[in-house]
Amino acid sequence: MSAQNSQVLAIIGQGYVGLPLAMAAVDAGWTVIGIDNFEAKVSQINAGSSPVEDISDQQLQAALAKGAYKATTDFSAVAGASVITICVPTPLDENREPDLELLRSAAVGIAPFVSNETLVVSESTSYPGTLRDVIIPIVNELKPQESQNLYFASAPERVNPGDPVWNQKNTPRLVGAIDAASKTKALGFYESICDAAVSVSTPEIAEAAKLLENTFRLVNIALINEFTQLCSTNNINVHEVIDAASSKPYGFMPFRPGVGVGGHCIPVDPLYLTWWARQSGVQANFVESADLINRQMPKFVAERALNMVEKKNDSTRVLILGVAYKPGVADVRETPATELRNYLISKGATVAWHDPLVSQWEGSKSVDLGWDCDVAILATMQPGMSLNQLTKRKVKILDCTNTLDIQDGVIGI
Ligand SMILES: NC(=O)c1ccc[n+]([C@@H]2O[C@H](COP(=O)([O-])OP(=O)(O)OC[C@H]3O[C@@H](n4cnc5c(N)ncnc54)[C@H](O)[C@@H]3O)[C@@H](O)[C@H]2O)c1
Repeated sequence: MSAQNSQVLAIIGQGYVGLPLAMAAVDAGWTVIGIDNFEAKVSQINAGSSPVEDISDQQLQAALAKGAYKATTDFSAVAGASVITICVPTPLDENREPDLELLRSAAVGIAPFVSNETLVVSESTSYPGTLRDVIIPIVNELKPQESQNLYFASAPERVNPGDPVWNQKNTPRLVGAIDAASKTKALGFYESICDAAVSVSTPEIAEAAKLLENTFRLVNIALINEFTQLCSTNNINVHEVIDAASSKPYGFMPFRPGVGVGGHCIPVDPLYLTWWARQSGVQANFVESADLINRQMPKFVAERALNMVEKKNDSTRVLILGVAYKPGVADVRETPATELRNYLISKGATVAWHDPLVSQWEGSKSVDLGWDCDVAILATMQPGMSLNQLTKRKVKILDCTNTLDIQDGVIGI
C-alpha cells in the first residue's frame, strides 16, 4: 500500500531554488519535506537558520513550528510525497561542459522510494533531453515494482535571488510534460503555488527555453561589456550612452557593464547550450564569443584600475569592494571577482577585499574599509556598504557599478 499523501511535496536540494520553493509551497498549503545530502545544511535549516537571503529565519521558523516543513538527509522520506521536485546544482566540469553528476545522484537517491502515482519534476537547469534521456531512465530502472504509474515533467526554475519584485509565486512557470496525464498533474501542482503556469508541448521546449533566457542575458551583457571597452578607450561615458539609447521606447533594452558575469546561472547555462550545439553538430559561435568577452572583462577592469595609480615602484595595494556576484547576496559562485583578484596578483599587486555579506572567501577574510590602498575597485555595490570612509580619504575608486557620483578620484568603468 502506498504511504503517499496527496498534499505532501518532497524537494531534493535545499539551496537558492529548493528552499524558497519549499516556503512557497508551505504558503500554498503543502506539507514539505526538504531533502539535502549536505548534513550541516540540514541541521542549520532544522535549527531555524536560513542559508539563503530570500528566506528569513522567521519565515523558516514559522514553517518548522507548524509542522509544515522539515529538512532531512533521508531519501526514503520521498515515499510519502505525491510530488517530488529536483532542485540540485547543474554545474560545469573541468572542461567547462555539463556536469550532471549531482542530478544523476538525486535521481538515484529518490528512485527506490518513489511511490505509485507520483509526479517527478526536474527544476534544475539543463540541456534539452535531460529529463527524458537522463532522469526518467534512472528512475524507471530503480523504482519499486509496485510504482508502475509515474508522471514526469520539466519546470525550469526562474528565481532571481535578491529580487524584491519577482519571486516563486508571481513569476510564470514553464511546464513541459512527457504525456497528457503528466501535464495535468504538473500544471495542477504549479497552479497551486504560482500565479501562472505556462504549458509547453514537451519537456525539451521548457529545457531549451530556460537556456535561451539565460543565454539572451549572457550575450547582451557581453555586447555591452565589449561596447564599454570601446567607449572607455574614447573617453565616452558608457552609462550616459546606455541612458540615451534607453530613451527609445521600443527595440532597445538596457544592459549594464560590470566586472564580468557570475552566479550559478548566467556564466554556466549558456555553456550547456554550446555543448548541446556541438552534440548536435552545430557551432554556437555567437554564444562562445560572448562567453569569451565576458571572461576577459576582469582583466580589462584590473588594467584600468592599475592605470589609475601613479606610483609604479612598490607593489600596488588594491581593495576590491563587493565580491559576491551581485548585490544583496552572499553568493560567490563563479564570481568574476576571482579572476579580477588573480589577475591583479599576477601583476604584482597586493589585494584585499571587503564585502559586508561575505565573511570568508578563497581562504581570506573581509578587511575593513580602513585598509590602506592605492586604488579600490567597486565590483558589487552591496546594500549597506558606505564608501564615505574611502571618499573622505580621497582613495581612488574605479566604479564598475554605476552607483557612485563621478568626482575627483572616482571614475566609471
Ligand atoms: N540560484 C539561482 O539563481 C537559480 C535560478 C534558476 C535556476 N537555478 C538552477 O536550479 C538548480 C539548483 O541551483 P541552486 O542555486 O538552488 O543550487 P544550491 O547549490 O543553492 O542548492 C542546491 C542544494 O542541493 C544539494 N544537493 C546537491 N546534490 C544533491 C543530491 N544529489 N541530493 C540531495 N541534495 C543535493 C546541495 O547540498 C545544495 O544544498 C541548478 O540547476 C540551477 O542552475 C538556479
